Amino acid sequence: MLSLSNINVSYDGSRILRGVNLTVPDRSLVCLMGRNGVGKTTTLKSIVGLVRPELGTVKLDAVDLSAMKPDQRAREGIGFVPQGRDIFPHLTVWENLKVSLVVHGTKADQVDRVLELFPILKEFLQRKGGVLSGGQQQQLAIARALLTDPKILILDEPTEGIQPNIIDLIGDTLLKIKKEGKISILLVEQYLDFCLAVGDSFYIMDRGAVVAEGPIAQLNDDIVKKHLTV
Ligand SMILES: Nc1ncnc2c1ncn2[C@@H]1O[C@H](COP(=O)(O)OP(=O)(O)O)[C@@H](O)[C@H]1O
Ligand SMILES: [Mg+2]
Repeated sequence: MLSLSNINVSYDGSRILRGVNLTVPDRSLVCLMGRNGVGKTTTLKSIVGLVRPELGTVKLDAVDLSAMKPDQRAREGIGFVPQGRDIFPHLTVWENLKVSLVVHGTKADQVDRVLELFPILKEFLQRKGGVLSGGQQQQLAIARALLTDPKILILDEPTEGIQPNIIDLIGDTLLKIKKEGKISILLVEQYLDFCLAVGDSFYIMDRGAVVAEGPIAQLNDDIVKKHLTV
């Protein structure tokens, strides 16, 4: 289980996160939602170690990650797919994947398993990352994160700017990963229907704080109108 307690973050003296509490139970998919600029990415960066909260703790199972650097957190089981995907455009698909293998000592048979989830990558192993479509790059970014053998996969707006058929494929893949039962998922997402389709529970943030949370079935029109529609 991932748990954040009382996370506070400031940039240049202005408070961005105000006491964020959030948990991702094992075997579940949690959607973190909210309008632009409310602090979703900052929350994820606090988990990954790219932002250092001035107050609060991040724990994965019994391990306190709060003082660890990003690479240590990755070894503890935090897998991150950043917003905008962030793959290496000049490396081939295979070389992009190999970065995870080298850094995390992943075994080669895991590559086969991950490539089974994304057949298109298997076909394009020798293509440069930069020539792939947005949806293919997103699949590559997810595959790369899976090869670090995470306990939790954290994705920042994976459907942003992606064609509907690939969004469906990504949704199916996340459900498949969850079903295998070894990896829980925390998904930052603004696309409501996607959250409703794949999520078990939701959190909604507004101005740096969690303002609503619950099982996904409780995400009703009132909540959506109040906190999500522009
Ligand atoms: N590196 C930064 N320096 C200063 N302010 C930042 C920085 N990153 C984000 N912010 C500000 O923090 C707030 C939350 O940003 P972010 O976490 O990216 O929101 P979201 O992901 O919900 O759109 C925004 O007001 C944004 O302008
Ligand atoms: Mg963001």
